[in-house]
Amino acid sequence: MQLQIYKDYTALSAATASEIISLLKQKPTAVICLASGDTPRLTCQLLVQKGLEEKIDFSRFSFIGLDEWVGIPPENEGSCRYFFETLLIKPLKLSPSQVHLFDALSTDLENECKKMDALIAEKGGIDLMIVGIGMNGHIGFNEPGVSFSNYAHVIDLDDTTISVGQKYFKGPVHLKQGITLGLKHLMNSKQAILIANGTKKAGVIEQAIAGGVSNLFPATIIQQHANGFVIVDEEAAANIKG
Ligand code: GLP
Repeated sequence: MQLQIYKDYTALSAATASEIISLLKQKPTAVICLASGDTPRLTCQLLVQKGLEEKIDFSRFSFIGLDEWVGIPPENEGSCRYFFETLLIKPLKLSPSQVHLFDALSTDLENECKKMDALIAEKGGIDLMIVGIGMNGHIGFNEPGVSFSNYAHVIDLDDTTISVGQKYFKGPVHLKQGITLGLKHLMNSKQAILIANGTKKAGVIEQAIAGGVSNLFPATIIQQHANGFVIVDEEAAANIKG
């Protein structure tokens, strides 16, 4: 795993967007998975801006959404689908056939997981996976205690995730479960990037990169990814020693 520290949120987002663009230049049919949330918001905006300026071919890659809140409809502004629709799918004019998001309203969530695992396998795995980190050390909805060998799965959300997650919604919302790619997907991805910004992430970033690898703090698994990167701004890097 490599650590990269950028001056601020804009610089880290520009660097992350550039990683996606350079992959698409090399491999227009790449399979790319992104998290939603506050952290990747500017990465998505810069990807659209730079990508369109540079006339990148966005028509052939496969896009995979990392996770979704179970039971939250797509039109809800706090859903992951809404985030991707607004920030990537519409501005890049992605076709439905290249976009793969969990249907969190499905009556058969296990089948949603199976379909996603099969799709990723059929495409030859994920080339680039860009994830954030939760205030409890989760990646996607891989909550503390999760098995490192999980592929896609449905999971009961941790109390921290339920309370922090309210920030995405207009009013209080009942959050109970998430559907998510697993850490096995992260470890099998050809490149994995964990991004974080801001002072509030300094503690979790310190633990993710310097703590012992443990499923009680799932993000520590990034330490074991052979082509893993942690890309942070100076505020999120504040607790990292020399
Ligand atoms: C959320 C999502 C994650 C996200 C993380 C951090 O709950 N399940 O996929 O990466 O928490 O979110 P943020 O970037 O808003 O801090």
